[in-house]
Amino acid sequence: MMRDMKIEPTVIVIFGASGDLTQRKIIPAIYNLFIDGLLPDPFCIIGIARTASDDEMFRQQLRKGVDAFSRRGKSKEEDWSKFAANISYTAADYHDEKTYKSLLEELNKGWYKSANKVLYLATPPTLFTEIVEQLGQQEVFRGKTSYRIVIEKPFGRDLESARMVNQVLTGVFDEGQIYRIDHYLGKETVQNILAFRFANAMWEPIWNRSFIDHVQITVAEKVGVGKRGGYYEGAGALRDMLQNHLLQVMCLVAMEPPTSFQADEVRNKRVDVLNAIRPIGKDEVEKFAVRGQYSKGVVDGLSVPAYREEENVAADSGKETFVAMKLFIDNWRWQGVPFYLRTGKHLPGRVSEISLQFRPVPHHPFTDKVMQSNRLAIQIEPKEGIMLRTQAKEPGPGMKIKPVEMHYTYQEVFQSSSPEAYETLLLDVVRGDPGLFMRNDQVETAWSVLESVLEHWEETSPADFPNYAPGEWGPKSAEELITQDGRTWLVPACLEFDRKEGRKT
Ligand code: BG6
Repeated sequence: MMRDMKIEPTVIVIFGASGDLTQRKIIPAIYNLFIDGLLPDPFCIIGIARTASDDEMFRQQLRKGVDAFSRRGKSKEEDWSKFAANISYTAADYHDEKTYKSLLEELNKGWYKSANKVLYLATPPTLFTEIVEQLGQQEVFRGKTSYRIVIEKPFGRDLESARMVNQVLTGVFDEGQIYRIDHYLGKETVQNILAFRFANAMWEPIWNRSFIDHVQITVAEKVGVGKRGGYYEGAGALRDMLQNHLLQVMCLVAMEPPTSFQADEVRNKRVDVLNAIRPIGKDEVEKFAVRGQYSKGVVDGLSVPAYREEENVAADSGKETFVAMKLFIDNWRWQGVPFYLRTGKHLPGRVSEISLQFRPVPHHPFTDKVMQSNRLAIQIEPKEGIMLRTQAKEPGPGMKIKPVEMHYTYQEVFQSSSPEAYETLLLDVVRGDPGLFMRNDQVETAWSVLESVLEHWEETSPADFPNYAPGEWGPKSAEELITQDGRTWLVPACLEFDRKEGRKT
């Protein structure tokens, strides 16, 4: 948003610069912004991490990341050397105040002094508060809008710890200087929910309980936990995906129309949704939430280990790799409309989709007994686009009805590759637009929605784990969560198309 803003010279300081996130996401994103001519001149990147390295070795490591993960593929020699000239590396100890003292001294010299300074915490979360406190001891940041701090999820692991992280952050920075990343908000198709809903007059009159029967949000991953077992054991699907990505997507689907795209206007509307989610009592968790964990199995002809056999995972782990939930929003628009959310690892395909299932027609004069209700599928990934299912008359005698789909994909319509979420988000940080980032109240309210589930799950160990095989849509209880309401999970539209056309996902 705010695409036409002038951008000031910028220094990006990355803490945790030798890590995976820097290599896979942050640097490829900054590199693509550079290639697109969207970065200010001058700009530079200062990498800080514990690993002993130097500028040249660091640049080489980053180039490998760009070559492997950039949406543009391998970097060209000329482009890379121009870009790399702006990168430097400092090996430092996060626990030593000298690290911060010398960094801030440097940031107060030459053109850095008047530049915007982005402090990016890409370290493990255990270091977040210490780095912020150490920074705060060296300099007063409050009110200096040229300083911005970017923080990656997880923001705490429950309401209490999130409050603590927020307290430390807001003790040093103003809320307007804090950019909490939820990368789903940077995805083009997630932002397109706003364009789709509020730039078209036809949806708003039917976007409510009178026309919509229920909403499904599926974020499925085909891969397992892989090498992230250590992290995942402390997180699980509820904390890793549902608390942030799925709830934020749900907010965009359910929010009221904003009066403008000013950062706080949209964020207020999103947080209103979270505040209206009906609390789940601790004694009713099992009616509203189910968890699953994958067993060993076969994916695309290859054997894959059970979650409990993954690296750094306990052999009797009770951590969920799948979660499904039913939520209600207590307001005029959505009263009585269930939102079913599900996410997990080792599901049948990599697909993120929102489906709005419309109510059946009130009366139909057709002889066909089974008629599918209208369905609108907002496909976030992998085939970004929109699909609307309607009914049509099948050619031939009589009035035979058949479901037909109208759809567009980004690729067909725009014929260019969309920027990665991190590109959009980083550009917004550089431009000083926090609209796509999480405000402290959003983070805390999202945790409070899930508090009873987190507590109940901590207290009761799942007797049936592992309870789904790789390639299945989670455990049987996930089916029951929805079938008990007389509904079924919808196969995401792009998997349906692939199946029809015999393609693998
Ligand atoms: C991250 C989670 O936030 O999102 C990962 O920590 C998950 O576990 C990833 O794989 C999914 O993101 P995307 O953009 O690939 O859907």
